[in-house]
Amino acid sequence: MGRVQDKVAIITGGASGLGKASAELFVQEGAKVVLGDKDKRRGRKVAEALGDAATFVEMDVTQQDDWDALFQHTLDTHGALDILVNGAGLGVMKNIEEVSLEEWRFVHAVCLDGTFLGCQGAVRVMKENGGGSIINLSSIAGLRGVPDLPAYSSSKAGVRMLSKSVALHCARHKYNIRCNSVHPSFIDTPMVEKMVMMSPDPDKMEKFVNGLSPLGRMGRPDEVANLVLFLASDESSFINGEEIVIDGGVTAR
Ligand SMILES: NC(=O)c1ccc[n+]([C@@H]2O[C@H](COP(=O)([O-])OP(=O)(O)OC[C@H]3O[C@@H](n4cnc5c(N)ncnc54)[C@H](O)[C@@H]3O)[C@@H](O)[C@H]2O)c1
Repeated sequence: MGRVQDKVAIITGGASGLGKASAELFVQEGAKVVLGDKDKRRGRKVAEALGDAATFVEMDVTQQDDWDALFQHTLDTHGALDILVNGAGLGVMKNIEEVSLEEWRFVHAVCLDGTFLGCQGAVRVMKENGGGSIINLSSIAGLRGVPDLPAYSSSKAGVRMLSKSVALHCARHKYNIRCNSVHPSFIDTPMVEKMVMMSPDPDKMEKFVNGLSPLGRMGRPDEVANLVLFLASDESSFINGEEIVIDGGVTAR
């Protein structure tokens, strides 16, 4: 028996990085997964590689209609929803003097509004379905200030409190739906690769992202996927409204 045997999971951002790693591990542990992502090419490829247990839906997490279609596809295909991983996200590396209102709104639309729409839809479905587990990808940037990431930090801090509100509301109504946020430091994914390549001095930036953690390296996507799997599974049945840091000790300082 797998650790999420026969459970049905939606994973946004499933075409890349942490979403992809989580999808791979979920399937290995017996789940059926529906990957949602705006990147059609990579999303399809990931789903194909996972075989019958996975399907892909092209969607934009900022769009209500896309969420409705994603939930409908999941229910039509599997008849249930047990797990939602809100993994889609992005950042704009500009300090408060540089970032435009448009960029600020864009980051919040994807990271925070997208997570809100996912949580709202999942609660509606899961409460009729016996419950479930929602895992929201925040960041240590949602817990600590980062001078070059005001929009990202703000949106991820919002995800942290949104998650607690969802957890408490569902607990109060005995929906049997848990909701937790996950807070990684730098993890070796295309997002960080892009950030390094786009920085004015990529070599210096690479040294910085590797050196930030007391463990002297970035995290690996599979290390975060292990935590997401645990929160998705019944092994974490008493963990609710919690913010779980996975950072190799960065915030221990
Ligand atoms: N990698 C890190 O160091 C790190 C650290 C902390 C938190 N996170 C968070 O983890 C999550 C996953 O990050 P990652 O490193 O895997 O990034 P990634 O760039 O590898 O993957 C993100 C995925 O989200 C998708 N996406 C972006 N905007 C979308 C939208 N509007 N609708 C649908 N899909 C959209 C992208 O197409 C991509 O496939 C993000 O929320 C990110 O903020 C990452």
